[in-house]
Amino acid sequence: MTGVARVFSGIQPSGGMHLGNLLGALRNWVAYQHEHDAVYCVVDLHALTTAPDPDELRDNTLAAAAMLLSVGIDPDRSTLFVQSSVSEHAELAWMMECTVGFGELRRMTQFKDKSDRSEFVSAGLFTYPALQASDILLYDTDLVPVGDDQRQHIELCRDIAERFNRRYGDTFTVPAHVIPTAGARVMDLQNPADKMSKSLESAGTVGVLEESESVTRKFKRAVTDSENEVRYDPGTKPGVSNLLGILASATGRTPESVADDYAQYGPLKADTADAVNELLSPIRERYAELSSDPGEIARVLATGADKARTVAAATLERARTNAGLIPRSPA
Ligand code: AMP
Ligand code: TRP
Repeated sequence: MTGVARVFSGIQPSGGMHLGNLLGALRNWVAYQHEHDAVYCVVDLHALTTAPDPDELRDNTLAAAAMLLSVGIDPDRSTLFVQSSVSEHAELAWMMECTVGFGELRRMTQFKDKSDRSEFVSAGLFTYPALQASDILLYDTDLVPVGDDQRQHIELCRDIAERFNRRYGDTFTVPAHVIPTAGARVMDLQNPADKMSKSLESAGTVGVLEESESVTRKFKRAVTDSENEVRYDPGTKPGVSNLLGILASATGRTPESVADDYAQYGPLKADTADAVNELLSPIRERYAELSSDPGEIARVLATGADKARTVAAATLERARTNAGLIPRSPA
């Protein structure tokens, strides 16, 4: 594909998606499919690192695919598939594990956070970034649209690609991350020191499929501070700055310019809730339509996996040959 950049990104099928996923990543995914060769993946093998219930994992995988279609991923303009359907991901991941350093993995902040919070820490949770590098490098990816929390993983992926290329000769394209200027880090509405995450029952997280009244209520109750000045200053005013960041991202402005429009917290909260509901309501409608047609989702994913496999198989073959693995069957 000369001249057209390849874009790749992935999302875990771990329950419902939230506003952070949408503003930090998915909106860029939708935008990229128009001008680039976009490949998007529901990363169910990554979800296995924390041993989800099998029925839940199955349901969440299909729900994540339905959600991606609902936010506007168009299977005629991009490739959408489930990671475990393309076995090349797991196979290249082994080669990535043999290329990344133990010390490099140990420095990953996502691993530190997740392992601190879990009783059982799987080896897969530790080598998670190697599988992520495999996802990205299999598609000769130029650009990886993600939220800010993935910056470190993408930088490690670049280091892995460069090390492999030095060891074995030119094999992989070295990718770059793309992180939005507003919305890259949507914080929890109740605890703005933490990023918004997938505990949808929480008053601090806004689900993409949440009822509009509930969304409005959560914004109304969002934590601010004891001053009454609307100013964008994430260090000293994290709650207010989070609201400004969300409203800016939802309306395509900068948080600083949005701040100029408000003198009080009440109207800022109300307008942020309205802007978010405007963004979410068409997504909720499409999701309801799609959920009544699971056959269509399965068909889209099967076609996507076939397309993905063709690209992935060629890259894996190149990596195998360059690393000195003999052909699978005599040529
Ligand atoms: P995950 O849900 O962890 O698989 O993340 C999917 C995508 O959403 C990744 O690109 C993340 O960087 C992005 N993301 C997750 N949480 C947030 C957040 N609170 N703010 C912005 N982006 C996020
Ligand atoms: N680790 C990413 C997350 O938690 C998900 C992911 C897996 C991903 N493989 C990827 C993101 C490849 C970008 C590219 O959000």
